[in-house]
Amino acid sequence: MDNKIVYLNGQYLPLNEAKISVMDRGFLFGDGIYEVIPSYSGHLFHFEQHMERLDNSLSSIRLTNPHDRAQWLEILTPLLDANLDQSIYLQITRGVADKRDHAFPQNITPTVFAMSSTISPFNDVDSGAKALSVDDSRWELCNVKATTLLANILLRQQAVEKGCAEAILVKDGYVTEGAASNIFAVIDGILITPPKSHEILPGITRDVILEIAEENNIPYSEDIISLDALKTAGEIWLTSSTREIIPIVQLDNEIIANGKPGPIWQTMNQLFQAYKKSRL
Ligand code: PDD
Repeated sequence: MDNKIVYLNGQYLPLNEAKISVMDRGFLFGDGIYEVIPSYSGHLFHFEQHMERLDNSLSSIRLTNPHDRAQWLEILTPLLDANLDQSIYLQITRGVADKRDHAFPQNITPTVFAMSSTISPFNDVDSGAKALSVDDSRWELCNVKATTLLANILLRQQAVEKGCAEAILVKDGYVTEGAASNIFAVIDGILITPPKSHEILPGITRDVILEIAEENNIPYSEDIISLDALKTAGEIWLTSSTREIIPIVQLDNEIIANGKPGPIWQTMNQLFQAYKKSRL
């Protein structure tokens, strides 16, 4: 095991010494919230936006943020490495109760954990990835970044077992997002992504892509996408903080366009890399 230094409840310690109680509500119920923030060369990317989403997630589960933004910055900074691209994972659970009871315990202290991992986002301009469409079996609070990810991991696993990089989730004939990513399609030359709702996580990478599209006059729209329309799309991308923008070149048995990452992906990926550098 990589015995890196992690943060747990006020202490920095080697990963194999970071321990929580079996009575932690995160362990017993998945009663917690998380965030994943990319860090490029030691700089947190869109820290404020990730903190805002964290606040929204915490208030949805009626948990008070144990730290303000300055404190979070202080907690996360020692985990950053100026020589690496990293993802910073942070998690807050409702804390450790003395008995297992679904209802919230009174007066407990949240558990706070953070760690960093190196990332190597998708950057192969010549070949893309495959995706599998599956029924979206998740709950109705998909806008909340909850640690309760059983449905997402089962869906991702189905995709992995079919040799695919990601599962594309479908509800009532329309795509929502990936198991751990947002979705974009290029249809009739327009970049389309489903609108924000309780059915998707409001991805920070998604917002950046829309901002870049706006600034560069790339036509885009936030609209619903049917699975049928997706199968005949010119391009499909999946986006996240850890993988950036993955071009999908095969969906189920359909080859997308000519089976290569498309021209709008090439342009967007270059603009995205430049955008990242401009924020260091
Ligand atoms: N997941 N949708 C879901 C369900 C996700 O889990 C994620 C990210 C996204 C993309 O959001 P963002 O662009 O802010 O990373 C969309 C993270 C990376 C994870 O669970 O590890």
